[in-house]
Amino acid sequence: MMRSPMPPCMTPRRVAISTRLFEHRSSVLTWVGGRPVLLARVEGKLYAMDAVCAHMGCALLSEAQGHTAVCPAHEARYDVRTGQLLEPPRIKPEIPCEMEALQVPLRTYRVTERDGLLEVDL
Ligand code: FES
Repeated sequence: MMRSPMPPCMTPRRVAISTRLFEHRSSVLTWVGGRPVLLARVEGKLYAMDAVCAHMGCALLSEAQGHTAVCPAHEARYDVRTGQLLEPPRIKPEIPCEMEALQVPLRTYRVTERDGLLEVDL
């Protein structure tokens, strides 16, 4: 019986996204192993982070600005290197916000390039 060199949860997931994509943009939201993941390249380094905002679950669709991913809904800002919340959501004072419910940092993953495609370790 052959054994896998890594447990299934540590198996890198190959994403069929060419690294050439980053010639035209700094980040992209994609699905990896059933999870929405933001892939970003900043100063030649690759980053992968869960792409669901900790505030109300909106997708982090806006293009990353340097190391910062911005939620388009209420402009919460996250560091793509660590998943840490850099700035909380900007909401109207009359709208209650369950700040204590924020689950940060967002999960981050190792991402590597292989043969021009990206691999993410989930
Ligand atoms: S849902 Fe992202 S900041 Fe509100």
